[in-house]
Amino acid sequence: MTQYPSQENKKSLSIIDLQAMKQRGEKITCLTAYDASFSAVLDHAGIDLILVGDSLGMVIQGKDTTIPVRVDDIVYHTQCVTQANPRAFIVADLPFLSYSTPEAAAQNAARLMQQGLAQMVKLEGTKPEIINFLVAQGIPVCGHLGLLPQSINQLGGYLVQGKEKSTADKIISDALKLEQAGASLLVLECVPAVLGKNIANQLSIPVIGIGAGVDCDGQVLVLYDILDIGVSHRPRFSKNYLQNASSVAEAISNYIKEVKQLRFPSSEHTYQ
Ligand code: KIV
Repeated sequence: MTQYPSQENKKSLSIIDLQAMKQRGEKITCLTAYDASFSAVLDHAGIDLILVGDSLGMVIQGKDTTIPVRVDDIVYHTQCVTQANPRAFIVADLPFLSYSTPEAAAQNAARLMQQGLAQMVKLEGTKPEIINFLVAQGIPVCGHLGLLPQSINQLGGYLVQGKEKSTADKIISDALKLEQAGASLLVLECVPAVLGKNIANQLSIPVIGIGAGVDCDGQVLVLYDILDIGVSHRPRFSKNYLQNASSVAEAISNYIKEVKQLRFPSSEHTYQ
């Protein structure tokens, strides 16, 4: 008879755990990571979610944008992160133009999951038909709305999104579409706090904010920004956690503590 691992001994967090956290009002903590050493440090500190983001194009590869990042890059860095066998739930980014058709999206997502061992893939923008197709193949999907770094050349800059009622309403309706299409998580980037709160309240899936206010169901930041390592400037919504810590591990623990206790983001890291 097939032996399934007992749920009690199950090591890594699942999407069910993250949904339960939303339901009981416990904030979900997330940071990006791109290698095994940081994956282990984050995991030891008790992070819930690790994102292998295409931000690696900027912080690892030193590029100006995330656009040059290739599927091979994300596969490699996801392998490095999952090699540390973290308890955290692992989401990997589908990079620019790797999900322009449902078939391409499925093939590339399969690589992130089969070779990289990601548990979920993330894609930017309002693409319900792609999400629908992936979910039908058994691929869990995280949406990403608000500021979309892969569309930076269309947006014209890293600007706050959804400041006017019409644009805020569009982001809300897009978020509902992604949830209806089967997305299990949503990253919401660089929007006014009131919009972040509204979307987190309307959606039943967890909404992970980055510059979207304290009322999102969780928070994500780029690891190198909070450790003040960087080739580019730290965005206003991020915070230098190394400043008041004596080690990298302490800085990460302080970030986790502040998110869990609703002390991050404070008003200085929030858009009104
Ligand atoms: O690539 C990334 O790190 C991201 C976060 C900024 C959310 O998508």
